[in-house]
Amino acid sequence: MTLAASSTLVAEQLADGLGRVERAFEAQLTSSFPAVDELCRHAERYRGKMLRPTLLLLAGIGASEDALVITESHVIAAATVEMIHMATLVHDDVLDEASVRRRGATVNFLRGNETAVILGDYLISNAFHLCSKIGDPSLNVRLGEVTNALCEGELVQLSRRHDLALDRPTYIEIVRRKTAVLVGACCEIGARLSGAPTPVTQACYRIGERLGIAFQIQDDLLDLTGDEETVGKSIGRDLEKGKLTLPTILYLERESAQARVAVLRAIELRDGDALKSLLMKSGAVDSAREFARSLVEEARAELTAIRQPQVRLVFDSLADKVVDRAN
Ligand code: FPP
Ligand code: MG
Repeated sequence: MTLAASSTLVAEQLADGLGRVERAFEAQLTSSFPAVDELCRHAERYRGKMLRPTLLLLAGIGASEDALVITESHVIAAATVEMIHMATLVHDDVLDEASVRRRGATVNFLRGNETAVILGDYLISNAFHLCSKIGDPSLNVRLGEVTNALCEGELVQLSRRHDLALDRPTYIEIVRRKTAVLVGACCEIGARLSGAPTPVTQACYRIGERLGIAFQIQDDLLDLTGDEETVGKSIGRDLEKGKLTLPTILYLERESAQARVAVLRAIELRDGDALKSLLMKSGAVDSAREFARSLVEEARAELTAIRQPQVRLVFDSLADKVVDRAN
């Protein structure tokens, strides 16, 4: 069989695996209380690209030594990471006062912040409950580390709001914690559940972490340059909430004091159009995109950890989509 044909088989296997993940997710997230169940069904609408379960399953089949199998543990772990992700989105929309996500109304917009906070808690609680069913406490420990890092990333971000001195390393560290640690853990856990040795699971973590940082940089670029209809969620929230992102940081890093005045004024006035135009014209938006692309290349350089060549091929094409996307 050619490499392309076996990659098609991997894609079919992945589609089947993701179907199982959806069923596991829905089976976990139910309640005998109609009011709660209705909220769970609403939260499920947030399921979009399924990037995290996809990476977990792909790393799982890619790291296996022989037969490419998606085990029940892979399925439950993949549903768990998606549920963790969803919990963070529900809470994030409260913090960002966002009204639109995945082209629909956010929970906070529809039901208010109190319901959204507790629904986020319900999701995170269910995620750890579901993960326990795998019967491997070390997985719960690992995911606990991940959610700790995630909260730290958010708390540091909150502490640096409206701080125009935020530098590049701190921005990257915030992004790494709030987004990339979970993406890295998805790749690591997928490989680990296939019995891969530590050097392989560590390389898988690094692949996911690099892709995760690139993903968040692109997310921030869309918040600055995209429109709500195409992106499918509230945009301009970073400026509104005083979060400095990479193009602004790069601009402030390299431009003269005189050139900085206009950008600082756009930030002060929350003038998204002016900020976008200045950052685009100066090349700062392109530089941020280039930086994200370089991270994708760093991830690609580690793909040798994926033992199955046909899975490596699928990973390779997925890597580009992390940055080449409009939503
Ligand atoms: C997206 O940021 C936000 C995150 C990736 C993390 C949010 C995490 C929390 C709010 C902490 C809650 C933690 C738990 C464990 C429930 P963004 O606003 O840049 O992305 P967006 O454009 O998708 O809104
Ligand atoms: Mg947000």
